[in-house]
Amino acid sequence: MKNKTVFACQNCGAQFPKWMGKCPDCQQWNTLVEEAYAEQPATAAQAKGHAAFRQSLRDDSAENRPFRLDEIEEKEGFRFPTAYAELNRVLGGGVVPGSLVLIGGDPGIGKSTILMQGFTGLKELRDRPILYVSGEESAKQIKLRAARLGMKDSNFLVHAENSFEAILETVQKVKPAILIVDSIQTVFSTQVQSAPGSVSQVRECTARLMVTAKTLGVATFLVGHVTKDGSIAGPKVLEHMVDTVLYFEGATHNAYRILRAVKNRFGSTNEIGVFEMTQAGLREVTNPSEIFLQERPVNAAGTVVVSAIEGSRPILVEVQALVSSSNLATPRRTTLGIDHNKVSLLIAVIEKKLGLPLYGHDIFVNVAGGIRLDEPGADLGAALALASSHRNKPLNPKLLVCGEVGLTGEVRRVSQLDLRLSEAEKLGFESAIVPKSSLEALEKSGFKPRKLEIHGVRTLGEAVERVLS
Ligand code: TYD
Ligand code: MG
Repeated sequence: MKNKTVFACQNCGAQFPKWMGKCPDCQQWNTLVEEAYAEQPATAAQAKGHAAFRQSLRDDSAENRPFRLDEIEEKEGFRFPTAYAELNRVLGGGVVPGSLVLIGGDPGIGKSTILMQGFTGLKELRDRPILYVSGEESAKQIKLRAARLGMKDSNFLVHAENSFEAILETVQKVKPAILIVDSIQTVFSTQVQSAPGSVSQVRECTARLMVTAKTLGVATFLVGHVTKDGSIAGPKVLEHMVDTVLYFEGATHNAYRILRAVKNRFGSTNEIGVFEMTQAGLREVTNPSEIFLQERPVNAAGTVVVSAIEGSRPILVEVQALVSSSNLATPRRTTLGIDHNKVSLLIAVIEKKLGLPLYGHDIFVNVAGGIRLDEPGADLGAALALASSHRNKPLNPKLLVCGEVGLTGEVRRVSQLDLRLSEAEKLGFESAIVPKSSLEALEKSGFKPRKLEIHGVRTLGEAVERVLS
């Protein structure tokens, strides 16, 4: 009998009966690979995964019936803290037993390092070990890294293995509190008839690891490789299956790394964790504003410090603008780290409301430190940076600016001004330009400035008047 096969896209997991050059689902070229069509084991594992997941929906109660909201206990379950406060925060307050976490990122960014170091020196686990399974490096290689990281834990077990069945056996034997699988793409099950690393393998092994995680209460961390465009390789369903998806990012030319959650069943996805890669592994950066402002030029025109709220934490970052006269018919408009359309809008408002002729100029706007500013609270700062560069006049280097700018040049309120201003005060800022409309809320929040002078402005024109005249 002829074995049935399908063509599965290695990028998105879609399956087709015949080969095509381009996947009709995700539009990627050359991603379709012929795989055995494995109906039996797949459905069995999926059903088991479904049952295990259903069990995990029940909290601790034996009963499963509809509950009235007021009879459900609010108390949160136990969580393991990791060695990093930054990692705990991104996870939503520590590791939830039985949860499945996927962590993706470019090769060499530090995924293996963060998972080894993050689970070092934990006392709360008592007699349950941490099991680190590597399908990429030998035990000796892992030992070398551990030595470099100064790890001496006796309850950190290293298992160089890529057979799913062998891993499962080990897990059942040692009953770890935490299982780390580095990476999911290297795990291979003999019950699935396709090549290691293929979509079917990755999907099935993940489904089975979910069963283990939920039934044995083992918190499981899966390292996932990323594709050229930066998403986790393998089927999209992988991200749907797991509880939490984290991305570890950073520019290759600097040592700073940002960990962010893009999905989290147990916490907010707005939190970021900041780390620095050093000789002795990853060091957490507890005050990111400091590093983002480290190399700021003093007394240069076109630089302004703004404050962005990332999750529950304010981060101060520098916005730089360069406005220089252009001989191009269509002057250049380039932005990095800030929305291009937002900058076009600010340029239009500056021309119309302040009467500054920016049209014959090339304009560049950059956010220092590789951070992306997505929030409107940075508008006023970006507008002042543009005006400062155009006039070639530096602003006070100890000035913080926050506020959203509307189309009529009005300065609109921002959220959590008290958090932003206390961060600025901590870092030695002396004055702040803020939306006038936020002052009332600021007063109610109980924020008392020590040295910081706070000025409320209603319009962009007022702000320019105050800091640039
Ligand atoms: P690694 O955790 O292996 O990355 P990933 O698992 O994401 O591929 O980190 C690899 C890089 O980090 C490597 O280029 C060396 C560097 N590194 C340090 O700079 N210091 C250290 O202490 C360690 C362990 C790694
Ligand atoms: Mg690695």
